[in-house]
Amino acid sequence: MPLLAVVVAAAFATASGASYGVGEPSGSWDLQTNYTAWASSINFQLGDQLVFKYSLEAHDVVEVTKASYLSCSASSPISALRSGEDTIKLDRPGRRYFICGVPGHCDSGMKLQVRVAPPGCNSPPPPSEMDGTPGGNGTPGGLCLDGSPSPSPTIISTPGVISYNSAPGSSSTVSAALVIAATTMLLISMLH
Ligand SMILES: *[C@@H]1O[C@H](CO)[C@@H](O)[C@H](O)[C@H]1NC(C)=O
Repeated sequence: MPLLAVVVAAAFATASGASYGVGEPSGSWDLQTNYTAWASSINFQLGDQLVFKYSLEAHDVVEVTKASYLSCSASSPISALRSGEDTIKLDRPGRRYFICGVPGHCDSGMKLQVRVAPPGCNSPPPPSEMDGTPGGNGTPGGLCLDGSPSPSPTIISTPGVISYNSAPGSSSTVSAALVIAATTMLLISMLH
């Protein structure tokens, strides 16, 4: 049953890219929204898009490197957008960084980083499996969240992150855990 849910979710996520209005529903691209909190609730997939909506006179959107994101520097942008309604296509896996280029705004919190899951990681971590089942089921979601099975060798892997993809026998370990979990659930249901 959990496996079926994963397959259905994957097929659905692949079929159409989602569009996310940055900061919505309670905010937009503004000085009030906590974008760390906003992005943390979304599992961004390849093909999704971000839409930054804001007042032209007040703000802009600058895509920057991680270093510039951390230091709030808009002086060497990857790209700068200022239409008031800017759409960013999330067309590659990995992290991307956006700040407002108006002086002081990034320091006040107008900075957004998103992580786009690698292909094949279309399912969000299934919350329904968090309760009651013995360990092991969290692994598939975690694997996608820390992006190791990347087809692109240009992605810089985070130091210290174990690549589940290359660990010998890891997929059979996961399968075994699923079988054990399923068997346990079956036994429990037979006892009642
Ligand atoms: C924004 O949200 C994150 C995660 O919920 C939290 O850790 C952080 O302290 C918040 N930042 C501000 C400025 O409130």
